[in-house]
Amino acid sequence: MKRKHIYISALIIACVISLAFIGSDKYWTITANDVKLDFPVNFPKPVYTFKDNTPTPAEFTLGRKLFYDPILSRDSSISCGFCHQRIAAFAHFDHPISHGINGLLGKRNVPPLQNLIWQNSFMWDGGVNNLEVQPISPITNHVEMAEDLGHIITKLKRNKTYAAMFNDAFGDTIINSQRLLKVLAQFTGLMVSNNSRYDKYLRGEDTLSAAELHGLKLFRDNCAQCHKEPLFTDNSYRNNGLKYDSTFHDSGRMAITGNKIDFMKFRVPSLRNIEMTYPYMHDGRFHTLKQVLDHYTQTFIRTPTLDGILVKGISLSEQDKTDVISFLKTLTDKTFLYDRRFADPNFVRN
Ligand code: HEC
Ligand code: HEC
Repeated sequence: MKRKHIYISALIIACVISLAFIGSDKYWTITANDVKLDFPVNFPKPVYTFKDNTPTPAEFTLGRKLFYDPILSRDSSISCGFCHQRIAAFAHFDHPISHGINGLLGKRNVPPLQNLIWQNSFMWDGGVNNLEVQPISPITNHVEMAEDLGHIITKLKRNKTYAAMFNDAFGDTIINSQRLLKVLAQFTGLMVSNNSRYDKYLRGEDTLSAAELHGLKLFRDNCAQCHKEPLFTDNSYRNNGLKYDSTFHDSGRMAITGNKIDFMKFRVPSLRNIEMTYPYMHDGRFHTLKQVLDHYTQTFIRTPTLDGILVKGISLSEQDKTDVISFLKTLTDKTFLYDRRFADPNFVRN
């Protein structure tokens, strides 16, 4: 009986402590340690090096506030975080294609935001090549945020909280689009995923089951040429055999280069946190990883721009597919998905 009481008291104390922690500023306060540039040793050199934009706690905190603030959209209804949700590794959970202002639909699936500083281009077709200017695209897109930078700056200047936060970050109250874009790049650029079970396995900190290891071997034999480890992309554009969709008329990379050889080529996406980012492909046409594997083994379309690696086809048994999926699930990175630094600060309890 007594022991039971001890357990119950311990439980109550633990709850109080954790609630106090979540309720306290500590949970939301960004420290110098939180914004330290400390990149995984097994990753290549980053493309975006934060040159002239070294993260500081105050600038990162401002970037976080802006990321979650619908003030960036024309009618103050849509924030970056509306489409890029933390629990889905900053993709849009269970949404095939994006929808923005006034419920208007886009034509592409919201990609996750992770390890962006290793990307040399952005968007499914590589239409943007700089992390700092990237947000101009969603902000000005008429079906996303439908806003213009000048008007945002006017709105921010009217807002007392932002005047104080820009002052904290930059030492004066000048609010301009360059500063806005730099702090957003600090926030999104620090989103690094490298603590999945796969990463721990590579570092010798965890083991994988026989099925997961078999899946990894199959992955290395059939998929890793394009989905290159450890980032799970080689940053190239390829046609992986998807049928052209006559509703969206999305020809991919060809729209950027104007070159027919780029028809239906899309950026090879990373597969990190893939369990959380469904549905899949540039238009979210597949809902499950099983459908993705059936595509690679059965339903892919042979066209003149189909990637050479896929021409001979991929052969996997049903058991093989199950094992590849088991392996892909080891790429789920809970440290990243629950990283308090990237949580929506509007949930702060005063
Ligand atoms: C209406 C939904 C929506 C909103 C709001 C939105 N995004 Fe996106 N985001 C997308 C979609 C869809 C794409 C892919 C677009 C494409 O490929 O053409 C994307 C792509 C990106 C990418 C490139 C990722 C990659 O791997 O290439 C970044 C970075 C990004 N968004 C950041 C932001 C930021 C910062 C904001 C706020 C200023 C924002 N997004 C607002 C839907 C949205
Ligand atoms: C020839 C290069 C290539 C090979 C080989 C390849 N992929 Fe892909 N993969 C791509 C490209 C390109 C896309 C994006 C296509 C699109 O959306 O239009 C993609 C998309 C995916 C997606 C969807 C990702 C997302 O975020 O929506 C998954 C999952 C995937 N591949 C898994 C695999 C697996 C598993 C294998 C091996 C069985 C494999 N891929 C082999 C190039 C390749």
